[in-house]
Amino acid sequence: MQAIRLTILAGTMTGTAHLVAQEVELTLDGPDAQVSTRVMDGLDAEVFAGGGLFLICSSTYGQGDVPDNARKLYESLQALRPDLSAVSYGVIALGDRTYAETFCNGGRRFDALLSELGAKRVGEIMLHDASAGTMPEEIAVAWSENWITLCREQARQAA
Ligand SMILES: Cc1cc2nc3c(=O)[nH]c(=O)nc-3n(C[C@H](O)[C@H](O)[C@H](O)COP(=O)(O)O)c2cc1C
Repeated sequence: MQAIRLTILAGTMTGTAHLVAQEVELTLDGPDAQVSTRVMDGLDAEVFAGGGLFLICSSTYGQGDVPDNARKLYESLQALRPDLSAVSYGVIALGDRTYAETFCNGGRRFDALLSELGAKRVGEIMLHDASAGTMPEEIAVAWSENWITLCREQARQAA
């Protein structure tokens, strides 16, 4: 079986989403999956050129916006509207239910935009509530193990 290649993109303001991404990388990287993590700083739509499997790991700020380091990537996707039909992705969305109206909107915004551009989401979005008293990295590690299994099943079906 060929190893899956996965790129995790971390959108973060105070480091939580990056920590979560690194824990997920440590969990999934191995003989069956080649995983790399990139913080979104400086990235633009080009990161999706060539397609592949991506995991967006993003927190939420402002009025339900993507964090500052994700803005360039988000806005370049909006402006250039590339065809992302060769992209499959998952989303880990970090937020806080105190912000009831905009809960986890950073990750949800990426989901909406990527799917508008033709990318295919694998599985449901993982939502984490910073007020819940749970550790996002623990929830994300458990979620990611199921998610990568789904990715493998879909890749097998497509082959
Ligand atoms: C100023 C500020 C604004 C925030 N706005 C939102 C929001 O609109 N919606 C939401 O779900 N969470 C919001 N959050 C919660 C963060 O997204 C959450 O704490 C997240 O885990 C932070 O991750 P990070 O360290 O990767 O940036 C906000 C947090 C702060 C400090």
